[in-house]
Amino acid sequence: MTSTRHGTRRSLLSLATAGAAPPPASREPHAAKLSYADLSPAEVRVAVLGATGYIGRFVVLELVKRGFQVLAVTRPSSGIGSKQKVSDVEKALEGATVAVADVTDPADLERCFSEHPAPHAVVSCLASRTGGIADSWAVDHDANVNALRAARAVGAAHFVLLSAICVQRPSLEFQRAKLAFEAKLREGGTSWSIVRPTAFFKSLAGQVELVATGKPYVWFGDGRLAACKPISEADLASYIADCVTDEARVNRVLPIGGPGRALTPRDQAQLLFKAFGKKEWTLGLPVGIMDGVIGILDLLAKPFPGLKEAAEFGRIGRYYATESMLVWDEKEGRYDADATPEYGSDTLEAFFNRVAREGLAGQELGDQAVFNINRGT
Ligand SMILES: NC(=O)c1ccc[n+]([C@@H]2O[C@H](COP(=O)([O-])OP(=O)(O)OC[C@H]3O[C@@H](n4cnc5c(N)ncnc54)[C@H](OP(=O)(O)O)[C@@H]3O)[C@@H](O)[C@H]2O)c1
Repeated sequence: MTSTRHGTRRSLLSLATAGAAPPPASREPHAAKLSYADLSPAEVRVAVLGATGYIGRFVVLELVKRGFQVLAVTRPSSGIGSKQKVSDVEKALEGATVAVADVTDPADLERCFSEHPAPHAVVSCLASRTGGIADSWAVDHDANVNALRAARAVGAAHFVLLSAICVQRPSLEFQRAKLAFEAKLREGGTSWSIVRPTAFFKSLAGQVELVATGKPYVWFGDGRLAACKPISEADLASYIADCVTDEARVNRVLPIGGPGRALTPRDQAQLLFKAFGKKEWTLGLPVGIMDGVIGILDLLAKPFPGLKEAAEFGRIGRYYATESMLVWDEKEGRYDADATPEYGSDTLEAFFNRVAREGLAGQELGDQAVFNINRGT
């Protein structure tokens, strides 16, 4: 009963994914069968946490489109800048049952799950909106632990986690928080699928306003660091929805990118200037600039602990400017674009062309914005 968003192309890509060299973390034994495998989508109940996020809302709508019974969990005020009321969420997620719960309070989450027919599967797209140290542990770890406990308490069979490919080389606090939860999820109690996507379109749209207003595209180093296979919200949502029913993805860690070759910042700049019909103008900055700023913030954070978070945001910026979002080959000590599975059909080129025509609505970074670009609030 697996639905397909992209027909034959997707099936072929799934085969490619299945054949790709799995990262070391994915070698757990597979569960033979999902307990709800013989039910039709209309009989399967799926609870989605983080249902109001950039990816979560697409996951809810994709599951609804496939005919599942979807419970979308929200807080009373949600979205970037907490501007959405529950009635806005109900409108945006039409077809899902919207429930209000506090995922940071285990008792409240269990109350929410037990007030509704128990879900067969839980999908968590929860994530800290800032990526800050305390909030990452509170949300990416603690709230997910609450979700897992609540899922087990009501007898859910399967847990799908939206994680990130960057956790394979952790140096940031939010990555450690995610990994700590991944480890708990893999202990058992439910079967699981851990989805580790590459870069989202919104994360590569940070320089759209600069280019549109005649400023240069800025990269660090030689513009060849930090390659990725960007994936759209709709394609990733489709991949995640597949994980609810696809037994080949049970008890697997699943790195996943969008279609096509890996793109470096140089490639991305080229596509962006082309989309806006402008002459290329780029500026390469030494990585050392960021190291200097981070070093100063680290020093200042000793007498002024309030600056610890600012130093962490600097490290996040540096990480994304210098590390690729591709599968890491531990043996070779390098990122491997060919081993990074592809899925879907939405390309960054088509996305930039659309943004040039229609603007950036829906691609705001909110509190994740580093250097205040594309904040959207
Ligand atoms: N950006 C990238 O390129 C990229 C690439 C790969 C993987 N990822 C990973 O993908 C995941 C999801 O990203 P996203 O962009 O969809 O995230 P997002 O838009 O920031 O959404 C986060 C979701 O978590 C909820 N949430 C956060 N804090 C909460 C709290 N204290 N209580 C209740 N709910 C809370 C938010 O609810 P509200 O609406 O109520 O705030 C929202 O629904 C993250 O784990 C990220 O690391 C990102």
